[in-house]
Amino acid sequence: MKVRKAVILAAGLGTRMLPVTKVVPKELLPVVDTPAIQLVAEEAARSGIEEIIFVISPGKTSLIEHFAPAPELERALEEREKLELLDLVQSVGKLARITAVEQHQPLGLGHAVLQAKSAVGGEPFAVMLPDDIFDCQPPLLRQLLDVAEGQTAPAVALLEVPRSEVSKYGIVEGSKTGEHIYRISGMVEKPSPERAPSQLAIMGRYVLPPEIFGLLEHAEPGVGGEIQLTDALLALAEHRALYGYQFTGARYDLGDRVGFVLAQVAYALKRPDLAASLRPRLRELLLS
Ligand code: UTP
Repeated sequence: MKVRKAVILAAGLGTRMLPVTKVVPKELLPVVDTPAIQLVAEEAARSGIEEIIFVISPGKTSLIEHFAPAPELERALEEREKLELLDLVQSVGKLARITAVEQHQPLGLGHAVLQAKSAVGGEPFAVMLPDDIFDCQPPLLRQLLDVAEGQTAPAVALLEVPRSEVSKYGIVEGSKTGEHIYRISGMVEKPSPERAPSQLAIMGRYVLPPEIFGLLEHAEPGVGGEIQLTDALLALAEHRALYGYQFTGARYDLGDRVGFVLAQVAYALKRPDLAASLRPRLRELLLS
C-alpha cells in the first residue's frame, strides 16, 4: 500500500480567529514567516506525498496562489541578486503536484473530504488539517503512513489530552496492540469528561481507504447539515480494522488564539537567526 495523495482541508470559516479570518484564510496565517498551509505541504512532501489536493471555499484562491509561480517577484529578486530569497519563493511550488477542489458550503470535515472523491480516485490517501501543526521527527504524517502501510489498514493520529479538554475533540475507545498503536473500536465526538471512553484524541492527520467516500455519501447529516468525518470512521471501524497511532512530539492548534501565539514563540525559539535576540526579550516580558 503506497499512499501518493494528500487531501488538505482548507474550506472552513475560521470563526475562532476572527477578525483576521474575515479576509485572510486561516490557513494562510503565518508561523513566524511561513504560512501554516506551507508547513503542512512541507510535512506531506517530506512524508513522500506526490500530489496535494486542496479543498478550498470558492473565495479562497489565494491559498493556491501561494504555490504558483510569482514571475514579477522572482524577476525582481533575481535582479537584486537576492538568490536565497528567490530559492525560498521558488521552492514552494516544487513541493508536490498541486490541485484544488471546491467545497461550496462549510458543511463539515466529512463533507469537505467527500469533495475530493474524484481527485483521489480509487486509492488510499492522507487527510491533513492545516490548523494542526506538529513538531515531530520524522514528520507525523510519515510516522502515521508507516503504521498504516505496516498494517495495510487505515490509521489516525492520536494524542493524549487532559480529561478537562476531551470535550474539544473526537475521543477514541480501543485496545492497545503494540507500542503506541491501538485498534479502534469506538469513537465519541466532543464527549463530556464523564462520558469520554479515554483521553486519546484524534488529531488532524488520517490515512484513509477510498471506501470512506461511500460511507460519507451515506452518512446522515447532523446539526446544521454537517457531515462528520467521525461518523464515517466509526462505520469504517465496524467492517475493517482501524488503527490509532499515539505519537510523541509537540502539537500546536493554530485555529485557537493561545495555540497560535504559542506556535509563534516555539518556532521562533528553534530558529538560530531569531532565538538569540528573542530569548532575553521574552524573559523581560515574563518578569515585567
Ligand atoms: P475547524 O473546524 O477547526 O475549522 O476545521 P473552521 O470551521 O474553519 O474553524 P472555526 O471553528 O470556525 O474557527 C479544521 C480544518 O478543516 C477545514 C478548515 O478549513 C480547517 O483547516 N474545514 C472545516 C473545511 O475544509 N470544511 C469544513 O466544512 C470545515
